[in-house]
Amino acid sequence: MDANNVRTVGIVGCGLMGSGIVEVVAREGIAAIYLEPTDGLVEAGHARIEASTARAVERGKMPADERAPVLGRISGSTELTALADVDLVIEAATEDPETKLETFRRLDEVTRDDVVLASNTSSIPIATLGAVTGRPDRVIGMHFFNPPPVMALVELTPSLSTSEETLALARGFVERLGKTVVVAKDHAGFIVNRLVIPYLCAAIALLDEGFASREDIDAAMTLGMHHPMGPLRLADFIGLDTVLQIAEVLHAEFRDPRFAPPAGLRRLVDAGHLGKKSGRGFYEYG
Ligand code: CAA
Repeated sequence: MDANNVRTVGIVGCGLMGSGIVEVVAREGIAAIYLEPTDGLVEAGHARIEASTARAVERGKMPADERAPVLGRISGSTELTALADVDLVIEAATEDPETKLETFRRLDEVTRDDVVLASNTSSIPIATLGAVTGRPDRVIGMHFFNPPPVMALVELTPSLSTSEETLALARGFVERLGKTVVVAKDHAGFIVNRLVIPYLCAAIALLDEGFASREDIDAAMTLGMHHPMGPLRLADFIGLDTVLQIAEVLHAEFRDPRFAPPAGLRRLVDAGHLGKKSGRGFYEYG
């Protein structure tokens, strides 16, 4: 299949990342069908996309008369069989290995044999996901960044079993979405998280030590390095449970202390302070 022939994409999960991916796909004129386990979550996913597209119109990123056709190309379902006729799948479910493995097993059963199954995972080996399917040559990592409508990068990670044709299709499709592709080996963290997780952990350790205040650590990097967010606000934005989970996977893969999650990060997650999405992390959110 050629990337230009992809007409319908199935997206598994419509949370923070999934909803953004659905929006990006539908904005390119491609039909998007997303899956969530319950009707309530299907509605919540749709509400996220409505809010984000409204913001895009408000900020002049989308002509007002394009919004209704974009929303019209999007549908949600609780049934995996809704993906029986899609041309490509992007899985963006919770970053939990068992959930992802079960999802890939079932996707392999319900989708056409020629369909490429991509995962937005930031840490689970693509080889592991491919191995539970009968098509490991058509399984690939396709890692978007938060928020997907704004961020220009997608990391592609072929496993040792992924074919050249699958990589070419994934590259062509991502470029069709107007994003820039980088390719990395199927090693935990790929490029971005391999670099950013030690940085976030170091910033949290500085705060734990009482070395500087949260405001000063963040101001140092926004004003001193021109980053759009300081490391503590960025960790809140990613989700502290997600940062912890990625750090643990990287630490298990490389046994390198730079990836070891600091105690302060664990305590916040233990307390349910997961960052922006829960209303409190390193900062408080209204
Ligand atoms: N579609 C298109 N554009 C949109 C949009 C939408 N739905 N919603 C907002 N935008 C645009 C806005 O128009 C604005 O563009 P301009 O600057 O040209 O005006 C821009 O996006 C920023 O939007 P806002 O002004 O509403 O918000 P902001 O200025 O506070 O920026 C931010 C928010 C984009 C998140 C910015 O703070 C930022 O870039 N932060 C860093 C994000 C980051 O590092 N993400 C990666 C996280 S790591 C990850 O995702 C991977 C992982 O595995 C952990």
